[in-house]
Amino acid sequence: MSSPKQSVQDLQPIPQMDLSGQYAAIGAEIRDAVTSVLASQHFVLGKEGAALEQEIAQLCRVRHGIGVASGTDALILALRAVGVKAGDEVILPPFTFVATGSAVSALGARPKFADIDPATFNISAAQIEKRITPHTRAIVVVHLYGLAADMDSIREVAAKHRLPIVEDNAQAIGATYKGRSTGSLGDIACFSFYPTKNLGAYGDAGMITTDSPELDARLRTLRNHGQASRYNSVEPGWNSRLDEIQAAILRVKLRHLKEWERRRRAHAAQYARLLAGIAEVQPPQVPSTRQHVFHQYTIRAQRRDELQKFLSDRKIGNAVYYPVPLHLQPIYANEGCPAGSLPESEKAAAEVVSLPMFPELRVEQMERISSVIAEFYGK
Ligand SMILES: Cc1ncc(COP(=O)(O)O)c(C=O)c1O
Repeated sequence: MSSPKQSVQDLQPIPQMDLSGQYAAIGAEIRDAVTSVLASQHFVLGKEGAALEQEIAQLCRVRHGIGVASGTDALILALRAVGVKAGDEVILPPFTFVATGSAVSALGARPKFADIDPATFNISAAQIEKRITPHTRAIVVVHLYGLAADMDSIREVAAKHRLPIVEDNAQAIGATYKGRSTGSLGDIACFSFYPTKNLGAYGDAGMITTDSPELDARLRTLRNHGQASRYNSVEPGWNSRLDEIQAAILRVKLRHLKEWERRRRAHAAQYARLLAGIAEVQPPQVPSTRQHVFHQYTIRAQRRDELQKFLSDRKIGNAVYYPVPLHLQPIYANEGCPAGSLPESEKAAAEVVSLPMFPELRVEQMERISSVIAEFYGK
C-alpha cells in the first residue's frame, strides 16, 4: 500500500504487462525445447508444429488446428477459406484491434461495422442482423479481452441468413461459453500467439481451428503457396507457417496455461473486491454461463483520461484498448459510419482502461493500484 510519506521516486513501478516473471519460472524448459529444435535442424512444417496443432485442437475440442504465421494471417486465410472475395461484405465489431478489419480489407472485401453490447464489449447479435445485406458473406466475432461473445444469439442470426462465423479468438484462448471453448463456437476460429497474449510465442505466430475437413485441407494448401502437394499449386496462396521454434516454445507454455488462467481469474476476483466501493469505476461483467480468461482486466472509469494520468504519475502501468474504434480511423473514413453512428463502441473507447494483469501480479500490487484509484476519486 502506498503511504503518504512515500515519495513517487521510491515507488516500484507496476507494469501493465510483464513477461519477466514467467521467463524466470519456465526459462529452463523453454531453452531445452529450443535446443532440441536446433539439434533437429528442422525448422518449418515439422513435428513440433504438428503436435501443437493437435494440442490446440484438443484444447478447443475441434478436429483440426492449422498453424500459421500470425493472428492477422489466420484471419485473412480463414476469411478466404470461407469464401470471402473482393467486393463482399463482412460484418465485424468496430471495437477491436485494427487487424480484425484489415484482414477483411486485405481481401478487397468491405467491413460492415456492427455495434457492441455495452455489458460485455462484444458484438451484438441484434446489431449484426441490422447490417446484413445480400452482399454479406461472413460474420467475424471477436471475443474481446478474454470473454466470449453471446454465441447462441449470434449463431441463430448466422444460421437464419446462412452465413459463416469466423471467431477472432486472439484474446480468448481457454475461455468458455456454456461449457464450450472459444475456438469451437463458429465455423472457423483464429488465434494469435503474439508474445503478450495469454499463450504467447517469442515472436509472431498464429493458428486456425475448425471442425471441417474441407476447410482444414484448403487452409493447409493456402498457407503453403497454394500447394495441394509439393510442386502442385492449385490456387494462389501465401507463405504463412508457424515455425518449429515457436511451436516448441508454445508447447512448453501450453502446459502452464491452465494455471496461468487460474491466477488471472483470482486476480480479477481480487480487483473486483478491492474496487467494489468505488462507484466511479465499473469492473468487467461476466455472464454466469461464460468463463473469462482475463487477457485484459478492463474497467469503465469516469474521467478516464485523468485517471490514466494519475496512475501513470504514480508508476502504475495502464493502457486503453482501444481508444479509437475502427470506423473512426482514417482507413475506414469512407465506410459510411461517421462519429455517433456506433454509440456503444464510441462510449466504450472513451471510458475503458486496462489495469495491470498478468499471472505473476501480486496482491499487494493490486492493493496499491486500488488505493491509488480510490485516492483519485477522493475516497
Ligand atoms: C483481437 C485481435 N485480432 C487480431 C490480432 C492480430 O494478431 P497478430 O498480432 O498475431 O497478427 C490481435 C492481436 O494482435 C488481436 O488482439
